[in-house]
Amino acid sequence: MLRLDKFMADAGLASRRELKALLKAGAAQINGKTVTDGAVKLDPERDQVSFRGCPVAGRRRLVLMLHKPAGYVSSTEDPRDPTVMELIPEAYRRQELVPVGRLDKETEGLLLLTNDGDLAHRLISPRHEVEKRYYARHAGTAGEADVEAFAAGLSLRDGTVCKPALLRPLGPGESEITVTEGKYHQVRRMMAARGLPVSYLRRDMEGPLSLSGLEKGAVRELSPEEIGSLDAAGG
Ligand code: URA
Repeated sequence: MLRLDKFMADAGLASRRELKALLKAGAAQINGKTVTDGAVKLDPERDQVSFRGCPVAGRRRLVLMLHKPAGYVSSTEDPRDPTVMELIPEAYRRQELVPVGRLDKETEGLLLLTNDGDLAHRLISPRHEVEKRYYARHAGTAGEADVEAFAAGLSLRDGTVCKPALLRPLGPGESEITVTEGKYHQVRRMMAARGLPVSYLRRDMEGPLSLSGLEKGAVRELSPEEIGSLDAAGG
């Protein structure tokens, strides 16, 4: 379900502020009934919205999951390196998709892309504490002291203080790390701060979603239920 004012702003009819006045003046109908309150929710797949007597084709909310391979940068354009957009099928290219946060060029794994800027913002914001789980191969072996240091909130060499995070040693040179924020090179820097420099990093989970079953380089569209679970995770 989507607010009427957001649906109309996404369709490019006017800014949210302008829409308020237009709605008040009775310019919009949902299923033929005039609605003056922009907060009223509608189902973009089922409800028919009209504006000044004309049907509005809403922009479908789209979220894609990509299994990012190493070697691609998480941006829409780059003068030097290939971008993740090159891995997105042609049919989605005109959807104004943006990556939800960034994975380093060498990091692999789960990267979401969406045309819903609000959702992207909520998922990235440390305020919403959406968990991101990584698998790392690294030098050395993580131990109890490292687990405790992660849980307490690490201070990095440049003074950056990280939120408490979960470190789960899997054996010599392998660990799982769960963080709720996305600072620059965060996991690599956290591990380096404990003398466990990372040689391979892959994101396996973001909020309720897991990479499982998606091959490296492949893309799939999230179902409405999965998008709903992301909405819930993003607060
Ligand atoms: N932490 C990192 O260091 N790199 C990433 O790509 C993601 C999290």
